[in-house]
Amino acid sequence: MEFFENDAPIFRAITSYAALNHASFHTPGHKSLIFNGDFFSIYKYDATEIPCTDELYSPTGCIAQGESLATELFRSYHTFFSAGGASQCVKAALAEFAGKKVIFDRNIHFSAAAAAAFYGIDAVFVWGKCDEKTFLPIPPTAEDFRRAVEENPDAEAIFLTSPNYFGIAADCLSVRKLCDEKNLTFIADNSHGTHFFFCEKTKNTSYDAHFAHVVIDSAHKTLPVMTGGAFLHYNKEVSLSAVRRRMMAAGSTSPSFSILASLDYGRAVCASEGLKLYSDCCEKVEKLKKTLRNHGFLVADGENIDPLRLSVYFGESCASAERFLEENKIYPEMSSSGFLVFIITPFNEISHLELLEKTLLTFNPVEISENFNCKISIPQRKLSVREAFFADREDVLPLESAGRISAEMIAFHQPPCAPLAVPGEVISEELALLLHEKDYGKTAVVADKESLLRRK
Ligand SMILES: Cc1ncc(COP(=O)(O)O)c(C=O)c1O
Repeated sequence: MEFFENDAPIFRAITSYAALNHASFHTPGHKSLIFNGDFFSIYKYDATEIPCTDELYSPTGCIAQGESLATELFRSYHTFFSAGGASQCVKAALAEFAGKKVIFDRNIHFSAAAAAAFYGIDAVFVWGKCDEKTFLPIPPTAEDFRRAVEENPDAEAIFLTSPNYFGIAADCLSVRKLCDEKNLTFIADNSHGTHFFFCEKTKNTSYDAHFAHVVIDSAHKTLPVMTGGAFLHYNKEVSLSAVRRRMMAAGSTSPSFSILASLDYGRAVCASEGLKLYSDCCEKVEKLKKTLRNHGFLVADGENIDPLRLSVYFGESCASAERFLEENKIYPEMSSSGFLVFIITPFNEISHLELLEKTLLTFNPVEISENFNCKISIPQRKLSVREAFFADREDVLPLESAGRISAEMIAFHQPPCAPLAVPGEVISEELALLLHEKDYGKTAVVADKESLLRRK
């Protein structure tokens, strides 16, 4: 796809610099030296911040141009580039609310919990429900958030993950309306849904996270972008320099230019062909889902489900199904709550999609009988996320953790696919038992005075 080179300024700058027979007396230390092996060919594109490559946190050249093209594409107030993944963007977006109260969808990624700890955010959690047919987790509704806002009138923002790991999206438009009514900032972690913007089926529907004031796209998950490439979109007026400072504080001051170039190139591809590529791919995946359903498989379904995410139920046979797929060199994204989850994009080869279909059809469909959800009661909070995160800690076996305060985020790929505990919450007996049954291993809890004395 060399065609897009002219539309991708960062990509062009990096490849032009690599093509020069230049003498490098700057970082990186490898000096583009090509060791033997395919892997090392990437080294010559591993440039750093010099005048011809621009600076990520005060851009005036190709990065400024790349961001401006992204801003135009996403029709945002400004779109910032990240080579530190969505994790960097989540932290930067939440830094604005240091010391303030934020209402979080309970299904947060670790980076959001870390931001709450780093920035001393007073975190309130809203839990979603489970789908009645599949038991899969559904994000909270605007009404759930409204109740939380009424109970917490001093909150300044709502942070929502949509779509979630199973591709189930929230009604973002209604959450936006609530936020406008209550004068709150709506931050959407759209890490799993960057492509929603390019699918006819999801674009401009109420499930599109771009209704939020601040949107985080882990672009590398579903766009043709190298791991680490992400966008932070502001759909409201904001100080560009303030956001850049927060991005800088949350990431490395030596961002990877190969990732930035790939993000820029991926953006150029999507600007030109995204709608066609992703909409065509949606049709292919819809066909695959239909075939599987016709053969009796339970495939997560519904208008609020990512058309490109394939979640197939295997119940107790999930682990063996995953092993069998791996023997056939097929690797799903994850296995959770009885479902195998596959991320499909227009960049999957047709032959690979055919192989997936053929291999899945060799299994016997499994009827859903078991609710794999861990029905854990809502934990009680004893310390703030920050206090617990930075407290002295000790590692204890699950059964010894009952009644103790969690010092870390406890989560596994298991619905509600939300952390079972976040720092500062009390680990209940039922959670301790569940962790024991699931062989969770040792759990970090806040150390009490006695254990600290014992350690001395
Ligand atoms: C919901 C959610 N948010 C944020 C992230 C962080 O994304 P990245 O890997 O791009 O840092 C992830 C990663 O899996 C995620 O699932």
